Amino acid sequence: MGQDSTREPGVTPSADLRPEIPHPARMYDYYLGGKDNFPADREAAERALAANPEFRSTARANRAFLQRAVRFTAGLGIDQFLDIGTGIPTAGNTHEIAQDIDPRARVAYVDNDPIVLTHARALMAGMGRGRTEVVQADLRDPAGVLAAAEVRELIDFSRPVVLVLAAVLHFLTDEDEPAEVVGTLVEALAPGSHLVLSHGTADFIPAEVRDRVTGVYSKATAPLVGRSREQVGAFLTGSGLDLLDPGVVTVPLWRPDTEPPAGADRVSMYGAVARKP
Ligand SMILES: C[S@@+](CC[C@H](N)C(=O)[O-])C[C@H]1O[C@@H](n2cnc3c(N)ncnc32)[C@H](O)[C@@H]1O
Repeated sequence: MGQDSTREPGVTPSADLRPEIPHPARMYDYYLGGKDNFPADREAAERALAANPEFRSTARANRAFLQRAVRFTAGLGIDQFLDIGTGIPTAGNTHEIAQDIDPRARVAYVDNDPIVLTHARALMAGMGRGRTEVVQADLRDPAGVLAAAEVRELIDFSRPVVLVLAAVLHFLTDEDEPAEVVGTLVEALAPGSHLVLSHGTADFIPAEVRDRVTGVYSKATAPLVGRSREQVGAFLTGSGLDLLDPGVVTVPLWRPDTEPPAGADRVSMYGAVARKP
């Protein structure tokens, strides 16, 4: 990974990738210091960073949360993961963390951005298939995600699953009915399954900064909808899940490995893990 998409032959800009329109996956890759992005993504990301310079550290804190939460759930003995809104592979992907703990762990990745599929399949190619699959599908069609052949082959829904929705639900508008989407996915899971959720928020930034950031994403392939702590918690409790300690907190404060840095309680991303009883 880490190639520059403007030069890498495997991902030469094509109509499919729509390089002229900023894509959240490629903007996120840019925040994380990756090179799998195009000029339009970089320009949009720089505008978002000009409005809120903490986007970069927030992206890193979100990745660290995802890794801690996957390590925690894999440590409970759950060996199947459905990770929707995968992102362009970077350091410490879900399958690497989970399979480090249990080499038999199975991971189904789902994303609607073709560049994610291109890179994820390239990464997986050398690893042998069967334990990790990548599917192009849309979170807004949860029944379609659940019905995808690769998902059904890899995931046994009669046993506990870890559903990962990390930094993706905020790309669904209220009209996309995100609570219903989460409800449909959770309903398909066996008792003992867990949901790992992170979600952007504007709770800690001035309205003017929020409006500038949402303005940038309004011109991308998906808008960005920050939600409050209560709204994020309602996705979990409203789906009948039990929130695990410490509840819905800013991502650096979710079971940190080391002392959280100053300002950790004002990072613009909430994280939580909940269990299906
Ligand atoms: C900010 S990245 C998060 C990546 C990774 N989950 C993480 O937390 O580090 C969001 C990802 O969600 C994907 N995404 C956005 N809307 C989606 C949708 N409706 N269905 C599936 N994937 C979506 C984007 O393509 C992108 O790869």
